Formats: sequence, structure tokens, C-alpha cells
Amino acid sequence: MIIGVPKEIKDQEFRVALTPAGTRALLKAGHRVVVEAGAGTGSGLDDAQYTQAGAEIVSEKALVFDRADLIVKVKEPLPAEYALLKKGQALFTYLHLAADRRLTETLLEREIFAIAYETVESADGSRPILRPMSEVAGRLAVQIGAHYLERVHGGRGVLLGGVPGVPNGKVVIIGAGVVGTEATHIAVGFGARVVVANLHRDRLEMLEALYRGRVTTMVANADWIEQQVIDADLVIGAVLVPGGRAPKVVSRDAVGRMKKGAVIVDVSVDQGGCIETIRPTSHSDPVYVVDGVLHYAVPNMPGIVPETSTFALTNASFPFILRLAELGPEHAVRSDPALAKGLNLAFGRITHRAVAEAFGMTYAPGVGA
Ligand SMILES: NC(=O)c1ccc[n+]([C@@H]2O[C@H](COP(=O)([O-])OP(=O)(O)OC[C@H]3O[C@@H](n4cnc5c(N)ncnc54)[C@H](O)[C@@H]3O)[C@@H](O)[C@H]2O)c1
Repeated sequence: MIIGVPKEIKDQEFRVALTPAGTRALLKAGHRVVVEAGAGTGSGLDDAQYTQAGAEIVSEKALVFDRADLIVKVKEPLPAEYALLKKGQALFTYLHLAADRRLTETLLEREIFAIAYETVESADGSRPILRPMSEVAGRLAVQIGAHYLERVHGGRGVLLGGVPGVPNGKVVIIGAGVVGTEATHIAVGFGARVVVANLHRDRLEMLEALYRGRVTTMVANADWIEQQVIDADLVIGAVLVPGGRAPKVVSRDAVGRMKKGAVIVDVSVDQGGCIETIRPTSHSDPVYVVDGVLHYAVPNMPGIVPETSTFALTNASFPFILRLAELGPEHAVRSDPALAKGLNLAFGRITHRAVAEAFGMTYAPGVGA
């Protein structure tokens, strides 16, 4: 099988979907790898390393798409790449389709066999390829929030850890999955006052056991969330309904009542965001202000720490890439229940329930799997 690795084109995206070590392993298993020139440069991996590993380097992105049976990427295809996708081609990447109707329709038209990293799901319900990037984004969320709380960056001018004699800042984290838990670790480390809300109790029990007295936990309900948010210096949105659009958990009215210069980092923006006033931004222009509150909503946060993120991602994705290559995408999806959960689109049909529901389109269970 020929595996194609294009260079990412999303704004300030420096990750790459396959390392030279992964390339070598695919070659050893009898496959071919075509890499777009410069694809790994942002992650400190130069073309020579890929060539030494046995990859063919091509200078044109179109050649990667044209030659490959399976395209492996980091982020979803952008409009400039739509026309390059071949009918029936297999695509393995983060897709977040529920937040992007145009992309969904394009991939359906082209009958792309689309497996989304974020919905690959193990038997215990964990999402092995989303997890490492959620770890990165959760940890980054507090660091980025602290940066924008600085007065020179438009924030209130609050030091999250405070100092003796001056109260510390307050961080409210909504969602206590992977992102929320990692954000909690870092916020506690910063010395902030931390409140975490989650739909279910179990995740909160774990945080309570770790940080008794240091973290306030609450089962999410609209009134409690609003009370906490209006008093916060930093709000982190970290909810997820797998495959679906994020529920709005903070209303426009609540944002209007927040402190001026407070900061919202909505990590869940890749699934549409959980704050009513959120819209996606980019690393080049990451924040905007509504009612005096800074909104940060970059859908590819881990892209700015590629030397960490590329290796964290490929450690998780590579075993699945190898399986897709070894068995062929259709057979791999049929024989591996985790990959079957990852299949979002096949043969022009939507094979993931939450994606179909997000657009009121027909769900075709079992197609392709
Ligand atoms: N912006 C980025 O760069 C970036 C990077 C990685 C992950 N993400 C996104 O971050 C989001 C969270 O990912 P995760 O891995 O932590 O997911 P997760 O499934 O581990 O956790 C989500 C949590 O949200 C909770 N939840 C769901 N609905 C809720 C509600 N109404 N109120 C309160 N809690 C609710 C769930 O109970 C769960 O604990 C996802 O959208 C993911 O794609 C974004």
C-alpha cells in the first residue's frame, strides 16, 4: 500500500502525521511512503531523515494525494486540499466533522473512506488518539490563559498564583475528562483557586481524592456554572460529546456578567465550542473580545508545541496506521472495533451517529464496518 503524508497547511500547524521511525517500520512491512517536502520540518524532522528511512520525497502536495491509497494527516483537509482528494481514497486524521458541514459534504461527495482520530475508541470507552492531544491542550490551556490574563495582553492583570497578602486568581474548568483533568493539574500547580465542573461524578471523585481542599468540584448544572463563571479570572471549556457538537454550557448573558479582562480558553472549539459567544480563531489571530472578556478559541492548540505533540500523536496513531496498511482500510475497520468507531464516512454515507445527528442527515450504521 502507498501511504501519503502531506505537509499540514492549517495556520501555524507544525505537526506531521508520520515520523521517520514510522516510515521505516512501514517500509519494513513492505509498504511505500510518499512524503511532501518539508512536511516534518516544523517538528524538527528534515527531508533527509525521511529519505534515509526509505520515503520518497515529492515537492508537490498534489503528487502525494495522487499517488497514495491512504492519506495520513494531522488536521482536517482545508478547502485548498479538497480537490486533491481522490474518489474513494482512505483518509486518517483529526476530522471534527460535526463542526464543519462543508467538509462533511465534500468528503461525502468524494466518497472518502474517512476515519477520524478523535472517534477511534477502545473497548473501555477511552479515545487513544484524542487522548495525547487533549493532554497537551489541557496543559497548554492554563499556560495560555495565564498569558492573556497579563495586562499587556489585554487581560485583567491577575497573577494566577497570587502572592502572600494578595488573593490568587480563580480558574473555572468545565468538563473533567482528559483536557479538564490536565488543566486542573497545571492550574493547581500555578497556585490558582480551582473549580471543576463535570457532567458525571466519577471524574470529580478522582480529582477530589488527589486535591482535597485545593480544588472545588461540582456536578455541572447551569446555575452553578453561571455563579462560578461570573466570578472567574480564567474559564476553560473542556466538554465533549464524542463525535457530536459541543453543548453550550455558558450563555451569552453569563459572559456579559463576567469580570472585564477575564479570559475564556475554549478548548472544545474544535467541536463547535461550549461557550455561546465562541467562534474559532487561529494561532495568527488567537483572541477576540466580547463584553470585555478575552476569548481564545484555537482548534489546533497542540500545533504550537510540535516537538512534543508530533511524537505524542504518532506514538498513539502509528499502530493504527500500520494496521490500516497491513489489512487495507476496509478490512482493518471490519476487524478492529476501535477503528470501526473511528469510521465517520464510507462510500458517500455517514457511518457515525453523532455526525449524522449534528446535520440532521441519514446515519448508515454498518456501512464499511
Ligand atoms: N482546541 C484544541 O486544540 C484541542 C486539542 C485536543 C482536544 N480538544 C477538544 O477538547 C474537548 C475535550 O476533550 P477531552 O479529550 O477532554 O474529552 P473527554 O471525553 O475526555 O472529556 C469530556 C468531558 O466533558 C464532560 N461533559 C460533557 N458534557 C458536559 C456538560 N454539559 N457539562 C459539563 N461537562 C460535560 C464529560 O462528562 C467528560 O468528562 C474535545 O472537543 C476535544 O476534541 C481540542
